[in-house]
Amino acid sequence: MTAGRAATPRVDVIFFGAPGAGKGTQAQILSAQYGYRQISTGDLLRDNIQQETALGHAAASFMQRGELVPDDLIVEMVKDNLPPADAGVLFDGFPRTVEQAKALDDLLQSEGRGLPRAIYFYVQRAALEERLLGRWTNPRTGRVYHERFNPPKRDRVDDDDGGPLIQREDDRPEIVGHRLDVFERQTIPLIKYYDVAGSQRYLKIDAARPIATVTRELLDALESAPAVRTS
Ligand code: AP5
Repeated sequence: MTAGRAATPRVDVIFFGAPGAGKGTQAQILSAQYGYRQISTGDLLRDNIQQETALGHAAASFMQRGELVPDDLIVEMVKDNLPPADAGVLFDGFPRTVEQAKALDDLLQSEGRGLPRAIYFYVQRAALEERLLGRWTNPRTGRVYHERFNPPKRDRVDDDDGGPLIQREDDRPEIVGHRLDVFERQTIPLIKYYDVAGSQRYLKIDAARPIATVTRELLDALESAPAVRTS
């Protein structure tokens, strides 16, 4: 835990960025240590696939190909899993299209909450590939490691629950390249949506730095963030 930091989440926050940019890593740290409630659409989808729900069946082939799951399915899933407004919610990997962003603004406003802040995790493409190809994941909890940058204490074993770590199917080299292309085509337009002069909604961070450095910058940004009430 970063010394001297208070657990005072005040606003809803979106983490967006390319696959491998570190959104999940930071969301896990902030929710475990600083009181944020995390909602990760990737984890929810993988849970649905594991439990063989109708949504899981509909989503699986998109995910295997490295495509985005259709907006209407994603928005419905987020509505069904939206945490209560008693703490700041951290949206990890949602929204990733402008349609999803509009739907989230509408949803939060219909619940009387302020508009969320959006933080863009920027990392160069070559580094993203290295991160994804070296990632190991606990399929039960979603906790992620990296064989070089963030290794578990024991090879391929989770530090928390001792369970086995796996490599995600969509982290295969042939799928990784396509996921990065999809990000550039479908998610980069979010920058224009959020980075509106005077709105104070948008922040770009250099997520290529070490994990603890990125966490510190996020905490600084979030602790000084005013709630955003209007677009
Ligand atoms: P999802 O699971 O959300 O995958 P993603 O967005 O592609 O993001 P990743 O989980 O790959 O990366 P991350 O940024 O969380 O990085 P991580 O922290 O793990 O989505 C999977 C699929 O589900 C999508 O392709 C799509 O099909 C579907 N989907 C999900 N949401 C959707 C939506 N809203 N709309 C439509 N479809 C949707 O870090 C990566 C690695 O790097 C790890 O090994 C980690 O240890 C390491 N690392 C992290 N930070 C650092 C650092 N600072 N320095 C060095 N290494 C680091």
